[in-house]
Amino acid sequence: MAPRQSHQDRVRERFTRTAEAFASFSLGTRSEEATRLLELAWPHLPSRPVAALDVACGPGTFTRVLAQQAARVCGLDVTPALLAHARAACQQQGLGNVALVCGDATALPFAEASFPLAICGYSLHHMPDPRAALQQMARVVGPDGVVAIVDIVVPAGADPELNNRIERTRDASHARTLTTAELLGLFAWADLEVLATEPSQISRSFDEWMRVAGWQPDDAAYRKTRRLMEADLEENSSGFRPRLTGEVDEEELVFTQTSLFVVSRRRL
Ligand SMILES: C[S@@+](CC[C@H](N)C(=O)[O-])C[C@H]1O[C@@H](n2cnc3c(N)ncnc32)[C@H](O)[C@@H]1O
Repeated sequence: MAPRQSHQDRVRERFTRTAEAFASFSLGTRSEEATRLLELAWPHLPSRPVAALDVACGPGTFTRVLAQQAARVCGLDVTPALLAHARAACQQQGLGNVALVCGDATALPFAEASFPLAICGYSLHHMPDPRAALQQMARVVGPDGVVAIVDIVVPAGADPELNNRIERTRDASHARTLTTAELLGLFAWADLEVLATEPSQISRSFDEWMRVAGWQPDDAAYRKTRRLMEADLEENSSGFRPRLTGEVDEEELVFTQTSLFVVSRRRL
């Protein structure tokens, strides 16, 4: 019998297979969100931090923005293929203050209070135990340290099961998108006081979203995911607000991705 694949194996498989496409998408489109996350976090830190940690850094999207503003930065991720992209992205920008580590967000290999600031971009939804990751971030920032994240959320009023079914059909490494209430509940549980939140909505092309996950229109995963999205065109039960745009013979399926920025401080 073949050994059971762990969730982390699935994450590594997905992001190794799509490393090129994902790095190009994330480095090319998410820098402004990295800048926004830091703008929201800085007012809550007494001074620009000497050291900062980017958890699940992937191709270095948030790491390289952080490294322009903090003295020393560490990026940690479980997928070596993406860390290679992060290394190249930092080198390309001449950033000599970045260390990249292969490791697990739910077992951070750092001592208590090692970094006054820890951030995490678009990754908690890939972790079966996001509470453990937040708890680890709270531990490594130490008392009064700042933990700031941005992640996708299920919009208010939507059906979380349908939303997550669509995500998992597209990507087997997707664990769970939380509702805003669930996500904020994790911060309370990890003893992190929420200081600021900011919702965000971005319109995305379905085809591009599938391409970033490694699927073309002929692939079974593409067809199955598209069927689920199209079945929701009228009702919008999923919260993705799928819609067809453009001319009838060149219609494009687009949808809305909803995210939440959260900045928090570890209680003393
Ligand atoms: C959607 S990507 C986001 C990457 C990066 N933060 C960005 O925005 O470009 C999710 C990342 O989470 C990483 N990841 C998932 N589970 C992880 C874990 N338990 N520990 C460390 N990294 C993890 C994946 O390898 C991947 O790089």
